[in-house]
Amino acid sequence: MDNASLSRKPPQASELVADEIPEAVRDHPYPEAGSSQSKKKGLIWKLLGLAALACGVSIWLNLNFNFFPATSQAEQSQKNPAAASLPSGSAASPTTSSKPATPDNLLGHLPYPEAPAADLVNVTSDGGIKLRKAAAAKYQEMANSAAASGIYFAPISGFRSVEDQQHVFFDVKAERRQNATKRAEVSAPPGYSEHHTGYAIDIGDGSAPETNLSQSFDNTQAFKWLEANAPAFSFEMSFPKNNRQGVSYEPWHWRFVGDRPSLETFYKAHSLKK
Ligand code: DAL
Ligand code: ZN
Repeated sequence: MDNASLSRKPPQASELVADEIPEAVRDHPYPEAGSSQSKKKGLIWKLLGLAALACGVSIWLNLNFNFFPATSQAEQSQKNPAAASLPSGSAASPTTSSKPATPDNLLGHLPYPEAPAADLVNVTSDGGIKLRKAAAAKYQEMANSAAASGIYFAPISGFRSVEDQQHVFFDVKAERRQNATKRAEVSAPPGYSEHHTGYAIDIGDGSAPETNLSQSFDNTQAFKWLEANAPAFSFEMSFPKNNRQGVSYEPWHWRFVGDRPSLETFYKAHSLKK
């Protein structure tokens, strides 16, 4: 060992330069900015970021504005033939969205499924007028209460099948030589009547039969009593003046909304677009 070697101190770590470390074992924790490898990595991260942003924006648009159109009814009926027999948007039609579907309407009338026959009971002793059990019981209570004040209801029409409504809409339309729009002002097309549900009833005043199914019914004692008291029995007028559906004023037509199924039938899937 020569003097020079003896006097030379071992190099401090801070004095080591890259060239003193063999190429193969050099570590590159921070690649040089501007190298082609780091540029590629940066580009990939940017693309991934953009893709994530695009996904987020499309999900937000769809949730808030239904921006991307839902599957068409034809497509839905291919996937679920059972749903094809129901008017779209009916309470019984399936939906995969967490939001209620915007229902179709026909000339201002909303689609309703027919009440199950097993849930219908007589409102009149001859069996000519029926309602669902819960609605019939409340109607009877309401009629008894009115009678106690000397006001006598005359039930005119309750549950109607889609077939019944076929006659009410098309046969009367032909008799009166009305076009579809005119007819729909006072009658729902088959498949679209609240009477299908078994929750709706047309009520007359037993003391003023000449006002049956006429707007002048609103001058009767029966109407005035209904206006003041029907909510206590969970009945409400379906078609008041200037209703959102654009159906003619029907002071005689009342619907039951006093249990969950009836409330869902009329309010859950049925919100009209303005
Ligand atoms: N008159 C009502 C709208 C109906 O036909 O159901
Ligand atoms: Zn009616």
